[in-house]
Amino acid sequence: METKAKKTKEEKAFNRKLIWSFLRGSKLFFIVSMLASAVAALADMLIPQIVRISVDNALGGKEANLPGFVMDLVDRVGGFAWLGEHIWVMSLAILLAAAVKVASQYAFRVYNTKGAETLVKTMRDSLFSHIERLPFSWHMKHRTGDIIQRCTSDIDTMKNFVSEQMTSIFRTLVLLGLSLGFMFSMNWKLTLIAMIPVPWIIVRSFQFHKKIGEAFLACDENEGKLSAMAQENLTGVRVVRAFGRERYEKDRFEEQNRVYTGMWMKLARPMAQFWSIGDVLSGTQILLIVVFGSLFAIRGEMTAGEYIAFLSYGATMTWPIRMLGRMISEMSKAGVSVDRIAYIMASPEEEETGRALCPDLNGDIEFDHVSFAYEGGPEILHDISFTMKAGTTLGILGGTGSGKSTMMLLLDKLYPIAEDGGSIRIGGVDIRDIQNEHLRKNIGMVLQEPYLFSRTLKENIGITETDMPLERIRAAARDACLDDTIQSFQKGYDTFVGERGVTLSGGQKQRAAIARALTRNTPILIFDDSLSAVDTETDARIRKALEKRFGSASILLISHRITTLSKADQILVLDRGRIVERGTHEQLSHGGGVYEQICRIQSGAEEVGA
Ligand SMILES: Nc1ncnc2c1ncn2[C@@H]1O[C@H](COP(=O)(O)OP(=O)(O)OP(=O)(O)O)[C@@H](O)[C@H]1O
Ligand SMILES: [Mg+2]
Repeated sequence: METKAKKTKEEKAFNRKLIWSFLRGSKLFFIVSMLASAVAALADMLIPQIVRISVDNALGGKEANLPGFVMDLVDRVGGFAWLGEHIWVMSLAILLAAAVKVASQYAFRVYNTKGAETLVKTMRDSLFSHIERLPFSWHMKHRTGDIIQRCTSDIDTMKNFVSEQMTSIFRTLVLLGLSLGFMFSMNWKLTLIAMIPVPWIIVRSFQFHKKIGEAFLACDENEGKLSAMAQENLTGVRVVRAFGRERYEKDRFEEQNRVYTGMWMKLARPMAQFWSIGDVLSGTQILLIVVFGSLFAIRGEMTAGEYIAFLSYGATMTWPIRMLGRMISEMSKAGVSVDRIAYIMASPEEEETGRALCPDLNGDIEFDHVSFAYEGGPEILHDISFTMKAGTTLGILGGTGSGKSTMMLLLDKLYPIAEDGGSIRIGGVDIRDIQNEHLRKNIGMVLQEPYLFSRTLKENIGITETDMPLERIRAAARDACLDDTIQSFQKGYDTFVGERGVTLSGGQKQRAAIARALTRNTPILIFDDSLSAVDTETDARIRKALEKRFGSASILLISHRITTLSKADQILVLDRGRIVERGTHEQLSHGGGVYEQICRIQSGAEEVGA
C-alpha cells in the first residue's frame, strides 16, 4: 500500500471532501474553540495597552492616541487625570482582561478537546465500517498491521493536525495581526524595524522542519518496522522456540533497534543548532526593539508606555512566530496521513454484481466452464464443469495448490468470476445475480484455517446470529463432537478462547468451526479440509452426525482422506486446476487413476498403523 508523492486533481478533491465529511459533527466545536482562542489573543494583546496608558498617565507623557470610543469612555469617567488618581481602575482593567483571557482559554481547551474527540470517533467509525464492507480480495491483498496503523497513528496525526496545528496557526495569525496592528498604531518605524528578523525566523523554521520532517518520517517508518518485528516474533513465538532461533531473532531485533536509535542520534546536532540559531534570531528582535525603542523614546518620538508595550509585544510574538514555520512544515506530515487514510476510503466497497435476487438455494449446483485467475496471477482453475444435485454430497480430492479452496471461495462469491470465466449456477440462477448476503447466509462454510475470536466459546459458535439460544449452540457442538470437551471446561460454554482463556488444540478449533457452521440449517455446507486435524475415529463420528443432514443439504466435502470422501455421491479429483477424474468411490477406487493409487496408499497406511 504505497502512497504516491504526486496527487492528481481528483485525488486532491477526494481528500478535501473526505476531510470535510470527517468534520461533520465536530465543525461547530472547532469554530467555537477558534473564536475563543481569538478572544483570548485579543485579551492578551490588550494588557500591554492598559499598562502603556497607565505608565504614560503616571509619567504625564503625551496624550495616548486611542480609538474614538475608548477616548469617549475615558472622558465619561472623568478623563486621564481622574484615571491617574484612581490607579486601581487600571489594575482592575488588567485583571478583567486577564480573566477574559483565562476564561476564553478554558473554553478553547474544552471545545477543542470535544471537537478533536468527535473527529477521531467519526474517523474511526467511518474507516471501520468502510473496511468491513471492502471485498474479501482487498483484505487478502493488504497487511493487517498496515491497516491497523492507518486506523490508529494516521488518525492521530490527522486529529493533531486539525485540533492542534490548524488552531495554532489560526491563533498565531490572529496574535500576529493584533500585535502588528497595535504596534503600527503606536509607532510604525519601530514596528518595521522589529519585524526585520521575522521573515528569517519563519523561513528558517519552515525549511528546517521540512528537512527534519523527512528524517522524522524515516524514524517513524523504522519504528513501524521495529514494532512489526516484535509483533511478528511474539505471534510466532512457537516457531522461534521450536527451531531454537531465539538468538538469531534477538540479533536481528538488536540490529534494527541500533539503526533506529542511530537515526535519532543523528538528529541531535541539527536540532540543537536550529534552536540555538532561533534563539539568536529572536534575541536580535528584542535587541532591535530595545536599541531603537530607547532611541525613539529619548528623541521623544514615543512615550515610555509605548516603549514598554513594544517590548511586551516583541516577547509575546517570539514563540508563536518560531512555531509557525514548524506547523506549516508539519502540514506535509498530516498530508501523508490523509493520503494513507484516503487510500482505504477510496477503495471501492463490495457491490452487488447483478440483479441481487434472493432465490431458494435448495437447488442443483452447477459449475459451467469455470476458469479463474487471482488478480495479476496465472490461471488457477481451468474449465471446471460439474453438476451436483440438490441434497447430494460432493467430495473433492486433490493435491495442495490444485485449486480446491479457490473453487469454494468462488462459490461463496468471495472472489468474482470474470465475465468470460464461465459461471456458477444454483438452482439455475447465476450466482452473479444472487444477492451477496443472501448467498453467504445460505452457505455454511468451514474454512480450512479456522479462526476463533477472543470471545467465549458460546459467542464463537453462535456468531452467526445475535443471542442464539444455548440449546442450538449445544446441539451443533454435539454434532461436531465438541460438547463433551466443552462441558469438561470449568466455565463450560462461557470459557474464553485465546489470549484471555483456554487455548484450544488444532482439532478442537476445527470442531468449533464446524459447530459454528452447523448452528444454521443452511441448504449448502462446505467443509474445506475441516476434518484434517481430528483423528479418524472422531472424523467418523462427525460424519455420522452429519449424515442426519444428508439429503436435506448439499454438502461439499474437501479432504485428503479417502474414508472421509467414500460416502459422497460424487467425487471429483482435481489436479493443477483441472478435473482429472470423477465418479463414485466404487468407480474411482478401481478406475486405475490417482484416486485408486491414493486408496491403496491410505489403506496400506491404515493396515500398517493398525
Ligand atoms: N489470494 C490468493 N492470491 C493469489 N494466489 C492465490 C491466492 N490464494 C491461493 N492462491 C494460489 O492458488 C492456487 C490454488 O490455491 P488453493 O488454496 O485453491 O489450493 P488448495 O487446492 O485448496 O490447496 P490445499 O490442499 O493446500 O488447501 C495455489 O497455487 C495458490 O498459491
Ligand atoms: Mg485449500
